[in-house]
Amino acid sequence: MDLGLHGKVAFICASSKGLGKACALELSKEGAIVVISGRKEKELKEASEEIQSISKNEVGYVVCDLTKKEDIENAIKYTVDKYQKIDILINNAGGPPSGSFEQMDDENWYKSFELNLLSYVRTIREVLPFMKEQNSGKIINLASSSIKQPIPGLLLSNTFRTGIVGLSKTLANEFAEHNILVNTVAPGRVATDRVRSLDQIKADKLGISIDEVQKQSKGNIPLRRYGQPEEFGSVVAFIASDVCSYVTGSSVIIDGGLIKAI
Ligand SMILES: NC(=O)c1ccc[n+]([C@@H]2O[C@H](COP(=O)([O-])OP(=O)(O)OC[C@H]3O[C@@H](n4cnc5c(N)ncnc54)[C@H](OP(=O)(O)O)[C@@H]3O)[C@@H](O)[C@H]2O)c1
Repeated sequence: MDLGLHGKVAFICASSKGLGKACALELSKEGAIVVISGRKEKELKEASEEIQSISKNEVGYVVCDLTKKEDIENAIKYTVDKYQKIDILINNAGGPPSGSFEQMDDENWYKSFELNLLSYVRTIREVLPFMKEQNSGKIINLASSSIKQPIPGLLLSNTFRTGIVGLSKTLANEFAEHNILVNTVAPGRVATDRVRSLDQIKADKLGISIDEVQKQSKGNIPLRRYGQPEEFGSVVAFIASDVCSYVTGSSVIIDGGLIKAI
């Protein structure tokens, strides 16, 4: 199926590795011009070269710390100045620290709000004038399966991910008249550095090996394995594409069946 992504311009937040990079790769393989971003230039340069060597399509990169308003403004400006438009925004960010209520102080709350929710608001604010002008756009907000079922020990994530759904659904309604479609994507457990580090924290806490933690974790997933980043990225590429033209305000769970609720 031709997804119609050829020549589309996509800006992807937090994409030097992990899920963001996987989205960039799948979009690039489908012919989109992708601009990846993150805090470290070296990692971005390497990731952009790797993606480009696989897809043979243009890949840009820009340093952008999502906790800095000016970085976000500069990154979107860089993308539009260089490619004259922006068709797709994929919001993503580093994960917040794990911990329970009594372990979190105001600073933890503010920092996570800024990184995991306010950064989405800020990127959307920057792309909106261009998408309105084009009378088209796709905004995809990355959350977590915790939007359906809170994950023990991930209080900050559980709180701000559901905020992302509220934001997405409200904006889907507000932006529909401009043909801007807004959706949420929610990974369960996809094998990235973040999941490995959370599994390690759990293993240390329980005094068992990381292999044992992963065995138990996979046992709760009907498909009995973690997802691969490309399995996540390909769903995002589909939602970002012209083919997916009548879906907005939806939350798409990509979790191998982990969430049991209807
Ligand atoms: N993997 C999963 O199964 C899963 C499940 C549910 C939710 N999530 C959530 O999805 C998001 C991505 O997860 P992941 O597994 O891909 O994590 P990851 O492999 O650790 O990658 C995180 C990415 O975020 C970037 N980043 C971190 N802080 C940043 C900042 N302040 N500004 C800009 N970029 C920043 C990192 O680059 P730099 O360090 O170079 O900036 C890196 O590219 C996280 O919020 C995570 O909690 C993941």
